[in-house]
Amino acid sequence: MRRILTFFAIFFTLEMIILNISNHTSEVEISIAGGFSVLCSIFFYLMSKRYEQEKNILNDKERQLASIIEQNSALICSLDLQGCFYMVNPTFRQTMGYELGELINKPFSMLLVEPKEFKTQNSLKMAYYGKSENFEATVRHKDGRHLFLGVKTVPIIIGNKIVGIYIVAKDITSRIIANEELRATREQLESIFNHTADGIAVYDLAGNIIRTNPAMCKIYGWEEDEFLQGKCTFIPEGLRGETSKLLQVVQNGGQVTGFETTRQRKNGDLINISLTLSPIRDTKGRVVACAGITRDITEKKRTEELLIRSEKLSAIGQLAAGVAHEIRNPLTTLRGFVQLLQTSLPNQNHYFSIMLSELDRINLIVSEFMVLAKPQAMKFEAKDPVEMINNIMTIVNSQAILNDVQIRMEYEPNLPKIICEENKLKQVFINVLQNAIEAMPNGGSIEAAIRRENTSIIFQFIDHGCGISKERLAHLGEPFYTTKEKGTGLGLMISYKIIEDHQGKMRISSKIGLGTTVEVILPIYESILSTQMSSNYS
Ligand SMILES: Nc1ncnc2c1ncn2[C@@H]1O[C@H](COP(=O)(O)OP(=O)(O)O)[C@@H](O)[C@H]1O
Ligand SMILES: [Mg+2]
Repeated sequence: MRRILTFFAIFFTLEMIILNISNHTSEVEISIAGGFSVLCSIFFYLMSKRYEQEKNILNDKERQLASIIEQNSALICSLDLQGCFYMVNPTFRQTMGYELGELINKPFSMLLVEPKEFKTQNSLKMAYYGKSENFEATVRHKDGRHLFLGVKTVPIIIGNKIVGIYIVAKDITSRIIANEELRATREQLESIFNHTADGIAVYDLAGNIIRTNPAMCKIYGWEEDEFLQGKCTFIPEGLRGETSKLLQVVQNGGQVTGFETTRQRKNGDLINISLTLSPIRDTKGRVVACAGITRDITEKKRTEELLIRSEKLSAIGQLAAGVAHEIRNPLTTLRGFVQLLQTSLPNQNHYFSIMLSELDRINLIVSEFMVLAKPQAMKFEAKDPVEMINNIMTIVNSQAILNDVQIRMEYEPNLPKIICEENKLKQVFINVLQNAIEAMPNGGSIEAAIRRENTSIIFQFIDHGCGISKERLAHLGEPFYTTKEKGTGLGLMISYKIIEDHQGKMRISSKIGLGTTVEVILPIYESILSTQMSSNYS
């Protein structure tokens, strides 16, 4: 433009000079021509001045624009029609770790972690078709690190033609990582919430449950919906005041830890729980809800009680052993005097022999009691099975007689010995016989038998009591499984363990209403010896 204007200015000045030189023109013509020439010069001068001004204004705008791009905290670059860098601002270079020379004329796709990823490809393509797009892209820093960018593409249009695209991006790596951490933490918490054995419930400030986890439903037997609708009466009536006081503590910002109390299951059973309550606050620190963790401690409480009971029994047992020892001395004296009297009063002989046999019986019971009560070191010995059963019969019989139960015993002659820890096995047989007696509250009979089968001795006890249902049979041997008001539910569990330690087996079959058969199968002494010898010499 400037060149054209200058050209016209020179052209008219030259024309004026030529006209001046030629003498063919009149003075008036000359003066008109001269005036016109001056006017033209002024016009062109003004035009060129205006052009200069406009150019300066344009330069200012360009500089402003360049400054906006240069100073911008966003990553800005322009791509040519081939998708190669044409301009890259400092933020872009610093964020990506590249020098300008390393990027110019290189394809933008070299920065993408997945250059062929459809969404990114499509968004870039749309920009070249004139449509601005927003998308997220994962790019690789020069040092290999992955960065996440929030990208906006803008087409560059000059004279209705797209000549390239601008990319304006923001580094959103920290936001994405924070979001990912938030998601991971949330997932962990959800997993704990859903899989912990402790019941968790969230209460609003009015004390209504607004969320529960599966364990809460398992502990109480109510469904989540029932909890949310406030239909559950899991807090026993007498304890409602106590619970609202606890919630009050939390609403005031306090915490309740491991508070032991009682709750009610849907089926009416009472359970012991340990309750921990803590406040849930909003961003301003105000308490908006309360989280309650319920731990079912019924089993723990029961174990504690059993421990206390067994501790008491063992103390009494020790005392009784001492008392039994004391009884034996006077018994010996009594026996001696009865014998003496027997010789001096021969016609009363019948009574004396009854007295003597009764005294012997007392002595036997006391001796057996002392053996059982005495804590003994683990000692496996070869024992006669018949003798062992006969010994415990002296103790069990008295309980049987009280319950109107007769115990009949049968055994094969010349049974071999079994290797065992006598006291432990006696504990098993006592429990089995006691269970049989307790299964017949109105009396009845028990058939006990001992026989040999190949390399084993089988102890069989048949009662005609209440029997055990199929479902219950599956639970036998589980700790604390009892159907008796004063039962421990430990007898069979301990029995199974003892028999297992003796390399034996326990079989229980039962028919409800008909009775139960318990079989204890133990290896005989010789069979153990021979297997030991064969394994020693093999
Ligand atoms: N002979 C039996 N007849 C009927 N039920 C039995 C018999 N033996 C065991 N049971 C059942 O097995 C349960 C567990 O027995 P056990 O472990 O000895 O504990 P406890 O006798 O303290 O209940 C009993 O409560 C009873 O229901
Ligand atoms: Mg029992």
